[in-house]
Amino acid sequence: LSLLLMVALVSGCGQSDGGGTKNLLKVGTDAAYPPFEKQEGNGDIVGFDIDVIKAIAKAEGLDVSVQHTGWDPLFEAVKRGKVDAGISAMTINSERQKKFDFSKSYFDAKQTILLPKSSKAKRLKDLKGRKIGVQSGTTGEAVVQKNFGKTYQGIKGYEDTPSAIDDLYNGRVDAVVADDGVVKDYLKNRMKNKFKMVEDPSFEPEYYGIIVKKGNKKLLKKINSGLKTIQSNGVYDKIYTKYFGK
Ligand code: ARG
Repeated sequence: LSLLLMVALVSGCGQSDGGGTKNLLKVGTDAAYPPFEKQEGNGDIVGFDIDVIKAIAKAEGLDVSVQHTGWDPLFEAVKRGKVDAGISAMTINSERQKKFDFSKSYFDAKQTILLPKSSKAKRLKDLKGRKIGVQSGTTGEAVVQKNFGKTYQGIKGYEDTPSAIDDLYNGRVDAVVADDGVVKDYLKNRMKNKFKMVEDPSFEPEYYGIIVKKGNKKLLKKINSGLKTIQSNGVYDKIYTKYFGK
């Protein structure tokens, strides 16, 4: 009996409600959205979001493991408890709030249009009839649908944003709509000479949040508390400056 008890105690002690180790926060992301998250050649996942979630975890005394899930599968992974949380430059919106709980916002963003330098378009509406690349299931896709209708033929959805940008590069689409931080990063790093960014004044501000499974108030509280800590002790600002400058 005592042996059984010991086994039960030992095996029970590492368990949490999520099935993982008690102090391990398992995080999923679509690591193809630099500078927020990207996968390096050696498989390491790095970026602004990754530094933020690691700092939050540290402030709360949690270990963290980050895995690349992709974008669509991330939602499913959080829902099924395969990961405890998702951080992925994810905009807080009412549709997602029906299915997940969001942390407080940790970043301000906006959709922007990535275009060939020669384009005369000043706003999305000027691109009516043209082919526009977006990552499927993002707010970039939503804004194109809002302007041109859900059945707009010119919209081309991609599983990830780099594929959309590749197609812009190859001339298979005329523009890409994505988050400003990502578009700026692309322009800075490799497309400065051929492409430019256009901000449509009609695009609404967006705010990024971290998702947990609906009803996981315990974890949500920890994430919000860690976020508050790093926002007040200078750690967040340090991470911000590392990726976006002063
Ligand atoms: N902010 C946009 C959204 O929430 C795009 C996010 C895409 N993130 C990514 N890691 N691919 O829909």
